[in-house]
Amino acid sequence: MIDLYQEKYPITDPDIHFEIEAIDLEYLREDLPKLIISMQEGVNRLKEISTSLRIFSRTDSDRPISFNIHQGLESTLLILKHRLKANATRPEIAVVTDYGDLPAVECYAEQLNQVFINLLANAINALEESVQGCSFEEMKVNPHRIEIRTQLSEDGQQVLIHIADNGPGMTPDVKACIFNQSFTTKALGKGTGLGLAIARQIVVEKHGGNLYCCSQIGQGAEFIIELPVRQQA
Ligand SMILES: Nc1ncnc2c1ncn2[C@@H]1O[C@H](COP(=O)(O)OP(=O)(O)OP(=O)(O)O)[C@@H](O)[C@H]1O
Ligand SMILES: [Mg+2]
Repeated sequence: MIDLYQEKYPITDPDIHFEIEAIDLEYLREDLPKLIISMQEGVNRLKEISTSLRIFSRTDSDRPISFNIHQGLESTLLILKHRLKANATRPEIAVVTDYGDLPAVECYAEQLNQVFINLLANAINALEESVQGCSFEEMKVNPHRIEIRTQLSEDGQQVLIHIADNGPGMTPDVKACIFNQSFTTKALGKGTGLGLAIARQIVVEKHGGNLYCCSQIGQGAEFIIELPVRQQA
């Protein structure tokens, strides 16, 4: 419409001319569509976050419910997204997912999401610690990466969720203690050392599953959650 006006009525009136300059019409016309696009993106993101928060924080009933593991993982990743982004000290941490064909799993969803967040937060912490003091050039040689893989066991009775990072890994001494309550290698006041103890309690005691860790120093770490598809009555 403005184009048409400008074509049919070339501006001769000084007041209109002044006002056009004052509001910087040219810039406004360029900027407004971009502004609307980013508002739209913002609203979409808010929608995603609120859906994720709802999935993430679903209040567990006293009985297990049927849960889509992939939705749980995705909502956890969205909550951790701000920690995965590039910042002043390091490039972005890439997350690669390889989701198998899983059935809905009977579980305490809120608690399981807590396990995912504890394992993923540990991976991010480990990756961050490993590059302290490195230059961006050095970090680019071995880009940070977290891999999440899911699969159904051959007999169809268990789901397996692998969460692996290419961080510093652990010594055998550390690996032997990680599930102990209060064991942490973090600086005083930084970690409670409860993350993995809680994760193990939820997976093993609450769900009758298993939680394994494979790690060697310099070779990253991989945690494997094994969960029964159905809970025993
Ligand atoms: N992905 C990993 N790579 C290397 N080390 C790890 C990894 N995950 C856990 N660890 C080791 O296991 C220790 C215990 O982990 P845990 O999550 O129980 O406690 P924390 O992370 O130290 O403290 P919090 O979870 O309360 O922040 C960590 O301090 C770290 O040494
Ligand atoms: Mg932890």
